[in-house]
Amino acid sequence: MSTTADRIADLAARRAEVVEIAEKRAVDRQHAKGKLTARERIELLLDPGSFTELDEFARHRCTDFGMADNRPYGDGVVTGYGTVDGRQVCVFAQDFTTLGGSMGEAFGLKVLKVMDLALSIGCPVIGINDSGGARIQEGVVSLAHYAELGMRNVRASGVIPQISLLMGPCAGGAVYSPAITDFTVMVDGTSYMFVTGPEVVSAVTGEQTTLDELGGPAVNSEVSGNAHYVGHDEQDAVGWVQTLLGYLPSNNLDPAPVYAAPHGPEPTERDLRLDSLIPDAENQGYDVTEAIRAVVDDGDYLEVQPEYARNIITALGRVDGHSVGVVANNPLVNAGALDIACSEKAARFVRFCDAFNIPLITFADVPGYLPGVAQERNGIVRHGAKLIYAYAEATVPKITVVLRKAYGGGYAVMGSKHLGADVNLAWPTAEIAVMGAVGAVQILHRKALQGAEDRQALAARLVDEYQRTFSNPYAAAERGYVDRVIQPARTRLEVSTALRLLRNKRTVVPTRKHGNIPL
Ligand code: HXC
Repeated sequence: MSTTADRIADLAARRAEVVEIAEKRAVDRQHAKGKLTARERIELLLDPGSFTELDEFARHRCTDFGMADNRPYGDGVVTGYGTVDGRQVCVFAQDFTTLGGSMGEAFGLKVLKVMDLALSIGCPVIGINDSGGARIQEGVVSLAHYAELGMRNVRASGVIPQISLLMGPCAGGAVYSPAITDFTVMVDGTSYMFVTGPEVVSAVTGEQTTLDELGGPAVNSEVSGNAHYVGHDEQDAVGWVQTLLGYLPSNNLDPAPVYAAPHGPEPTERDLRLDSLIPDAENQGYDVTEAIRAVVDDGDYLEVQPEYARNIITALGRVDGHSVGVVANNPLVNAGALDIACSEKAARFVRFCDAFNIPLITFADVPGYLPGVAQERNGIVRHGAKLIYAYAEATVPKITVVLRKAYGGGYAVMGSKHLGADVNLAWPTAEIAVMGAVGAVQILHRKALQGAEDRQALAARLVDEYQRTFSNPYAAAERGYVDRVIQPARTRLEVSTALRLLRNKRTVVPTRKHGNIPL
């Protein structure tokens, strides 16, 4: 009969074997590709010494393909829990060094278990992806577990933050789990994500392409918008996720962490600079991040999808130590006009903030929706509607500041009072109108202009008249569509006062199963 000491020694030996086997495989192949191992990645992400591993003795269950005698521990994934900056998170890291990190039965059960745990205790789950996808030897069992994973992702959506780090291949149906999660972060040079790889594309369509062209980080972050950030290396990607977690609550019922408010009410240099931010020339761009920096604590914010649809900026920051989501038209890219890509980008961000009770601050300077055949054919009607839907649906405190243009549909969608914004502010430079002065004068006074002796002088006079009558914030303020017209330098103070006012906001929404956002 074995003694207690024997049993403890046996456990230690088994543990040593798990680690030894993993390390032997890992160091050679993984590091040579410029990638860390699953355990090294977890160590990088979590507070030192905080990781508790689950199911370390789980083993591959397949007896075919000669694997019965060589069943690696862990089964291609390391799962467990730990802390980031002292806050609880659950984590799984696919281990490419074991069967290519492919999903088999034991692997699947481990991941589902840690996700169920995260959901039951209400903490974020971070999945580190580096995998050959469905384990070929385990056939439908593997596919079943991918589908179960999708089921968990959907159940957890809007309840706990879900973050995917892509640190190697992610292909086939395996891409859909990260795609459902709230944030997807890639790594330059080592990660890629696509439904079918270059060889399949070539066989099916005849197109010749490369891994990078199809699904490298640049394509995913700039063109398709699948990735929210690209780290220049694994450490940078992990650092972004750690910073992100600092802005987020652990779940939809808990508040986000609160930090000390760094500024008092007296205007800062940054505040004062806002008085001269808007150029005199109506079509000249300016850096709207100056306005964002003036309002958020320490001028510090984390931009989400910085390389995608740059005509709109989405970012997380803090005001008086409390997390906020920022949506801002960017006049430096396509004059800040709304198109398909930026409508989707902003709509998803607004919905994320709403799900996790993060108040929204909108900075509007928008000439309207982008005209064009391509936009219409590709569905600007449907996709643009997503942004209206998201703003209208959001019940978190919503504060809007109109900096300059708020024309046409752009006025309505960018956090207008009519879509439920709580506090609407406008700078004196705001132009809230159906369209810009020049366009409006051409339409309203075409005949008069055609018959005018001095056409230019008449046009200039009419534009001036239009601007005084329509292109200002006062018509909207008369009707209460704008609550206050403010000096730009007071924006931080006004926003922070409004956020304090709205801290206990309550909204009653009609009972229903769910709405039907135009997907
Ligand atoms: C079993 C796999 C595997 C897989 C890789 N391996 N993918 N084992 N099932 N899906 C194993 C390899 O046999 C190899 O084992 C080891 O992992 C490393 O793989 P390599 O090919 O040597 O690595 P590399 O050259 O870096 O190439 C990586 C790769 C390639 C591009 C990912 O392995 C590959 O194309 N794999 C298949 C990808 C795929 O089509 N998966 C199915 C997607 S469909 P040894 O023993 O030599 O170390 C899918 C459906 C999901 O996932 C359904 C959701 C509903």
